[in-house]
Amino acid sequence: MIVYLNGEFLDAHDAKISPFDRGFLFGDGVYEVCAVYQRHLYEWAAHCRRLFLSLQRVHLSLGYSEQQLADIAHQLLEKNGFENATVYLQISRGAVIGKRDHFYTPGLVPTIFAYANPWPEAMLEQRPTLKVITLADQRWQRGQIKSVNLLANTEARQQVHAQQLDEAILTRGDEVVEGTSSNVLLVKDGSVITPPEQPYMLTGITRQVLRRLANENGLPFIERRVSVNELNDADEIWITSTVRELRLVSELNGKAMPTNAPVFERMREWFNADKCRA
Ligand code: PDD
Repeated sequence: MIVYLNGEFLDAHDAKISPFDRGFLFGDGVYEVCAVYQRHLYEWAAHCRRLFLSLQRVHLSLGYSEQQLADIAHQLLEKNGFENATVYLQISRGAVIGKRDHFYTPGLVPTIFAYANPWPEAMLEQRPTLKVITLADQRWQRGQIKSVNLLANTEARQQVHAQQLDEAILTRGDEVVEGTSSNVLLVKDGSVITPPEQPYMLTGITRQVLRRLANENGLPFIERRVSVNELNDADEIWITSTVRELRLVSELNGKAMPTNAPVFERMREWFNADKCRA
């Protein structure tokens, strides 16, 4: 596999990063994951906007334009011969050898790493449903930053995985926030309802795409606070992310959800058409 590291395309085995890199020592970095369908970088502009916002929020400057990042992604696809993939892009604050200062040591140069992960054909077609549970959100209060520091997310996900489940919906008090690596939407009486943009939650690109598709097709799409009770009472629950696309929840906290999900089916058709059109 060929990966990109600091201006070079290398065999993954030859890609080396200093152990003093602050991404390693402190989780001091941000990332993006973008979907590629038939070599097209889906929603690339939106992913770059969010990346630049994450960078700005942690006072990191990259010095690459949206177009330069797209060139890197295209080259990764070409060099690896991938048509359908996800592209992972990470920028950490870099390393000064021998230094582990909590403040930003002078002389740091950001480390830029990217790779493409082929998307199995099956993944593009299947529609597996997800079993989920609710868990208390243990994360920090700046979830809009797509930080590589994902300890609370990975712990929650491992807890779910150990129970052979698929995702945890994170809650704060009585409120639904999002999944460990996804956003949450529900359907009630024909309307899609999802928590609004907020500091605790990543503003998902897939979620934004669904909002656009709902608006284009006259489906009510409401962004407002969602309580755990409403989740229990929903007609349909959806999980969305770049990697998982749009999935239906079939079980919530051990309770089966209806598998007849007409709004989900409609949205899924619009989403698939949007991917092909792109
Ligand atoms: N995660 N919320 C969190 C906490 C996430 O990590 C993600 C995505 C999302 C969905 O965002 P989007 O629709 O833009 O992918 C919401 C990526 C896929 C990951 O960490 O692999």
